[in-house]
Amino acid sequence: MLIRVATREVQVGMYVDAMEGAWIDNPFWRRSFLIKTEAELDRLRSSAIQHVTIDTTKGRGVTVIPEAERRRQVEAPAVIAPLPVERRKRRSGPQPDDLTQTIDRSKEHVIAMFQEARLGRAIDLEAVTPVVDDISVALQRDRAAFVKVTRLKMNNEYTYLHSIAVCALMVDLALHLGLPEAEVREIGAAGLLHDIGKVATPTTILDKAGQLGQDEWLVMRRHPSEGHAMLRKDATASRIALDVCLHHHERLDGSGYPERLKGDQISLHARIAAICDVYDAVTSVRPYKRPWSPHEALARMLEWEGHFDPDLLDAFIVNLGIQPLHALVRLNSNRLGIVLDGSADPYAPLVRTFYHVPDSRFLGIEDVDTTQDPVLRRERGDYWFPDRWPALLADVQAGIQPHEAPLLRAAGGR
Ligand SMILES: [Fe+2]
Repeated sequence: MLIRVATREVQVGMYVDAMEGAWIDNPFWRRSFLIKTEAELDRLRSSAIQHVTIDTTKGRGVTVIPEAERRRQVEAPAVIAPLPVERRKRRSGPQPDDLTQTIDRSKEHVIAMFQEARLGRAIDLEAVTPVVDDISVALQRDRAAFVKVTRLKMNNEYTYLHSIAVCALMVDLALHLGLPEAEVREIGAAGLLHDIGKVATPTTILDKAGQLGQDEWLVMRRHPSEGHAMLRKDATASRIALDVCLHHHERLDGSGYPERLKGDQISLHARIAAICDVYDAVTSVRPYKRPWSPHEALARMLEWEGHFDPDLLDAFIVNLGIQPLHALVRLNSNRLGIVLDGSADPYAPLVRTFYHVPDSRFLGIEDVDTTQDPVLRRERGDYWFPDRWPALLADVQAGIQPHEAPLLRAAGGR
């Protein structure tokens, strides 16, 4: 029999058939499962899920309280018990401590998972799911803070934090693409596990500050195959996790590794992973290298023809809400300008404006703080200034005032 019960009434031994609410609030991998432990019960009660449906043919039913006891409970003075700390935090909205704790907790799980793999044991893939859920929830609450925290990576924890960041970026892009919930969660798990094969790569190579030598590169390039072999030890490894682990370094033009797959031979999931993996790697702050700013990273990734799926990269940029360096953008004031680095906030870049759309005329160039005049969208330079865009872009970058009238376009946009 299926019975709808409040989450606070759920007990260990009950079989949850379905949960009410957004999947992102769902703290478990599956919608249907048996509550086996107090820890699982706590996880459910601490979530934003208010009601679930239990299946009494598969687990414990609802305890019927004797009438006398029920009356005693109803008549007793109301005592509002303090909520568990975790639940109070969830109700009071995102807090920096909450985020740090989530990332620390996720990191511990990832470290334990990698340790198991290092010892040659099968990875417990069931343990991955709550970590993906934690990461997804933290990301949805405050994406900017999440990305900021995971950018800073010390050598000894780089791979773990990179796994967490790639998981988050992949979930975010998959949600943006409108993929089904179950698939999104598998994609998140795949992101968390994509570099598991690096446990077989010596730390002298992983943490090397300078360029890798030829032999070292050959060792490094084995990690997709090594990881794939590790995941296959667990019969429950999903097709997506296996695919992403093996193919996240493939490139559209066939110049990737390990199988030199081309074009459509590379799955959607592996293409998503390739973008998220590289973006996080090049923007990470590490002790021995200057990270690229998010703007610079996106601009360079757009230039690497044949590396990424261009449509997916566009979707990634739109979803990220960060504009590539030197991209032409329209501000709220209907001015066109190019994105410059130099702002502490990647979501509010410095923009050098030079053109006014409603008046169809050039303006004196000005570097604008977009916290006051936000970026509306990216525009196409070759649409607005067909023949002269490359030269115009170079001039504006160099701070040279444009003076010629452009070929006029309708003020509607791209
Ligand atoms: Fe990798």
